[in-house]
Amino acid sequence: MDLNGKKILLGVTGGISAYKSVTLLRLLQKQGAEIRVVMTDASTEFVGPLTFASLTRFPVYTSKELAESSPFRHIDYPRWADLFLIVPCSANTLAKLVHGLADDPVSLCFMAATCPKWVAPAMNSAMYASVAVQNNLRMLKNFENVQVLEASAGFLACGEEGPGRLIEPEEILNRLLVFAENVNPVFKGKKVLISAGRTREAIDTVRYISNSSSGKTAVALASVFLESGFSVTVVKGQMEAEFPPGVQIVSVESALDMHSQIMALASDFDVIVHAAAVADFRPKMVSDKKIKGSSSLLQIELEPNPNILRETVKQKKNGQVIVGFALETDDFEANAIEKLEKSGADLLVLNTPVAKNSGFGFDQVSYALLFDAKRIPPLKMNSKKQLAKEVLDFIKQAWTSSDDFTELHNA
Ligand SMILES: Cc1cc2nc3c(=O)[nH]c(=O)nc-3n(C[C@H](O)[C@H](O)[C@H](O)COP(=O)(O)O)c2cc1C
Repeated sequence: MDLNGKKILLGVTGGISAYKSVTLLRLLQKQGAEIRVVMTDASTEFVGPLTFASLTRFPVYTSKELAESSPFRHIDYPRWADLFLIVPCSANTLAKLVHGLADDPVSLCFMAATCPKWVAPAMNSAMYASVAVQNNLRMLKNFENVQVLEASAGFLACGEEGPGRLIEPEEILNRLLVFAENVNPVFKGKKVLISAGRTREAIDTVRYISNSSSGKTAVALASVFLESGFSVTVVKGQMEAEFPPGVQIVSVESALDMHSQIMALASDFDVIVHAAAVADFRPKMVSDKKIKGSSSLLQIELEPNPNILRETVKQKKNGQVIVGFALETDDFEANAIEKLEKSGADLLVLNTPVAKNSGFGFDQVSYALLFDAKRIPPLKMNSKKQLAKEVLDFIKQAWTSSDDFTELHNA
């Protein structure tokens, strides 16, 4: 698939790599995209607005334009766009985006844009490594609907070598092609909440009960949902795997924390996927000091944690899809059927770590998707990404074929 008919607003800021935005514009046009351009004053010192106006045949939105012909261009251009790309993004503009300044055409359009926004920083490597820029990048990655296209390392125009080099226009195009191919109109603007990682149930101030979940399945789910047009929020416990840029992250520690965060957020989401390995039990008493080795304590009394899957199903809103996970080590089918029936989940992902080189920490997993207790498919071994794609296919199917889901689908 190409970018035929896609409307892209290209923001250009004052950096030496601004000339590469001309190459990007041409690449996008060759794929059939319609482009309009917005520029900061500083960027017009690097590339003339006339270049962009000639290539796009549309007025370039500059600060001069702000006062002249179209007073509402800061609303009209972002509203027109399917995507807002800021390439390159200077350290100065980055700070404005993050801290809510809107005193030039690019930062103004960024604030007014509700479409997906991709930001490609580029600068000298010392600037890029500075605490201010790194903090701002970290914050920007947590903005809803924003992707940061990280700078790479290499020779910089200032003669130095290091990180800060603008991502190549060809690479931006490749990512856009993947994005355009995967975005499904059914999923556009929909929101998914994914629980991830493992919880920690405190025994005392330094010890806890936990498990071996790596969070890799949740990362695969988040990536696939994000690429398909969803806005993705994750409530995560401890985990090693990292989420891609653009995912909103809420961090928690224990099952009780995860329970309260998910219950507070649930009603705001179209899909909830319970991929976290939440402890079933927690110590009844938590010592407020480290329990001494000499302690005569021989037993830790446990009490059950809330069943988050079942509670979200109880409060399920019309059209919402709820996906549960069942990790089983024995009697797979019977256990999974019982969990599917008792929880009332729309879909249950039965998975097991017993097969070699699969499960915890691996990229492969042995699983089966259950949505009908009378039809149990056999377990199969596949990548976690493939599992995520099948979960997404189930949701697409549900929203496009079942009456139960009509309301949300039509929303
Ligand atoms: C020759 C030259 C090259 C520059 N290159 C960069 C750059 O690559 N990245 C950057 O963040 N700033 C760079 N700057 C500094 C910005 O142009 C300056 O911070 C400006 O205020 C940015 O304004 P803007 O964010 O409104 O475009 C450069 C300045 C000069 C004079």
